[in-house]
Amino acid sequence: MGEKNKTKYSKENTKAENKNKEQIVFGHLYSQIYDALYKDKDYQRECDYLEELFKMFRVRVRKILDLGCGTGNHSIELAKRGYEVIGIDISEKMITIATEKLKNLNKRRIKFIRDDIRNFSLNERFDAVISMFAVIGYINENDDLIKTFSNVREHLKEDGIFIFDVWFGPAVINLKPTQKVKEIDIRESEKIFRITTPKLDVMRHIVEVNFKVIYIKENKLHIFEENHKMRFFFPKELELMLKISGFKRVYFFPFLETERKPDENDWNITAVSLKK
Ligand SMILES: C[S@@+](CC[C@H](N)C(=O)[O-])C[C@H]1O[C@@H](n2cnc3c(N)ncnc32)[C@H](O)[C@@H]1O
Repeated sequence: MGEKNKTKYSKENTKAENKNKEQIVFGHLYSQIYDALYKDKDYQRECDYLEELFKMFRVRVRKILDLGCGTGNHSIELAKRGYEVIGIDISEKMITIATEKLKNLNKRRIKFIRDDIRNFSLNERFDAVISMFAVIGYINENDDLIKTFSNVREHLKEDGIFIFDVWFGPAVINLKPTQKVKEIDIRESEKIFRITTPKLDVMRHIVEVNFKVIYIKENKLHIFEENHKMRFFFPKELELMLKISGFKRVYFFPFLETERKPDENDWNITAVSLKK
C-alpha cells in the first residue's frame, strides 16, 4: 500500500483517560460515544412502558425524577410528553451532553443536575422516580443501596411510584456473562469498536465489566478502557432492602413486560415499588 493510501492516526487524550480507568465510569470519551453505542435502544418504547406502569398501578403522574439520567434520553422524551422532569447523574460529561440537547425544548419543564443518587437532596417531591438501564446496579454495596432507596422514598409523594430495572441474579448465574464485540459505523470518518470482557464474582453479586474502546474520529485514534462493576440482584434481597427503606409493596416483571413473573432466562427485570 502506498504512503498516500495509509490512514494515519494520532493518539489523543487516551493517557489521561486510562490513568484513572479503575475509578472513572462514564468519563469524557465514553460519554461522548454513549448515544452512538446505544443508537438502537428504543427510548420511546421504554417511555410507553413507564406510562403503562403508571396506569397499571393507578398513579397520576405529573412530576418525574430520573435518577442516573445519563444523556437525558428518557427525561427528554417524557418532557415532550408533557411531564415535568428533573434528571440527576453523577457524570459531568453525561450531564453536559443531556443539557446541550435542551436547546430547543421548553426549559421550564426539564432540568438536569449533577449529583450522586446516594445522597442528593432536592426540596421537592415527585409522583414518580425512575432509574433506567441498570443504574441501580452501579450501587454495589447494601448500605449504599438502602441509602439510595430511602432517599428515593423521601423524594416521593405519598402515593408515588419508584420504577427501576436491574440485572436479574438467577439469569446472570444461569446464562453467564460472555465476551462481546460491538462495531458501530457512525459515518465514513467515525467508527467505534467496543470489546466487552466480563468477570463474574458470585460472592459479591457483581459482574466486573471491562470495556475496551477503540474510537476513530477524523483520523485520530482514541483507545481507552473503563471498568464497570455491575451488581445483579435476587428478588428477595431487593424486596428486603426496599422494605427496610420504607416501601410497602414491591413487584417484579421481565423488562418491558407486565404480564408474567421473571424467570432464569430474563437478564433484565423491572422493579416497581410503592410507598403505600
Ligand atoms: C447505563 S447508564 C444509563 C443512563 C440512562 N438512564 C439511559 O437509560 O440511557 C448509567 C448511568 O448511571 C449513572 N450513575 C452511576 N452511578 C451513579 C450515582 N451514584 N449517582 C448518579 N448517577 C450515577 C452513570 O453516570 C450513567 O450515566
